[in-house]
Amino acid sequence: MLLQLNNVFKTFGGIVAINNLSFEVRNNQILGLIGPNGAGKTTVFNCITGIYKPEKGTIYFDGKNITGLKPHVISKLGIARTFQTIRLFPSMSVAENIMAGRHTKCRQTWFDSLIRTPKYFKDEKENWLKIKYYIDLLKLSEYTTSIVSSLPYGLQRKVEIARALASEPKLLILDEPAAGLNNKETQELVDLIYQIKAMGITILLIEHDMDMMMSLAEYIIVMNFGEKIAEGIPSEIQSNPQVIEAYLGSE
Ligand SMILES: Nc1ncnc2c1ncn2[C@@H]1O[C@H](COP(=O)(O)OP(=O)(O)OP(=O)(O)O)[C@@H](O)[C@H]1O
Ligand SMILES: [Mg+2]
Repeated sequence: MLLQLNNVFKTFGGIVAINNLSFEVRNNQILGLIGPNGAGKTTVFNCITGIYKPEKGTIYFDGKNITGLKPHVISKLGIARTFQTIRLFPSMSVAENIMAGRHTKCRQTWFDSLIRTPKYFKDEKENWLKIKYYIDLLKLSEYTTSIVSSLPYGLQRKVEIARALASEPKLLILDEPAAGLNNKETQELVDLIYQIKAMGITILLIEHDMDMMMSLAEYIIVMNFGEKIAEGIPSEIQSNPQVIEAYLGSE
């Protein structure tokens, strides 16, 4: 088991955003989290990554209790994410943005970089090789020096995934990665997610594109009003009356 949520509870003012939610993510699984708008999906991701601290419950990652730890500590432990609304450094280049994702991997101290110790050069070389690897993986090589804000939306999404991968996470969390993508870009994203799985990385995914979710996810958790209303393999979820009801009721 890589990730485990036990009775996680989180409110905002009077609103119960997550109500005693428990679920598990197995090693190297592609797990989908679905539910109508406002169900609490992004809040779950924000609790896992340390942006919010749950008021009750625990979150275990890779055998460690990470409940309430700071985001940079959780990121160092091996969780990387992308955001529902793209968050990049808009005035920086593609390469610089991906480099920013590697800061958790740098072992050099200020002293190493000040007097340029052998460790500094070894680290720099390793960093550039890795960044080049993720640039190639995401097919971004012709945009390496492009300023991110000048790129179309679909490419910015790719830069965000490259940046997340650059920290070499055990768990990659994607919040609606297909939102705003066209059909061809969505198909590329599906292929990419399979490639990421083949690299041994575990994937936790929120997605409103049901065709994509049903073909990609190995197991699905369904939320509504902060609660888990169903879980199972895609075929079970598709025929679950409570799930159908939740979606019809939200339209
Ligand atoms: N920072 C916040 N302050 C106040 N309320 C919040 C905050 N973040 C989320 N909420 C509320 O918590 C509930 C769950 O929101 P959340 O964003 O987790 O839903 P979601 O399932 O990701 O929805 P969507 O599919 O629209 O992205 C909503 O009622 C939302 O308004
Ligand atoms: Mg959301």
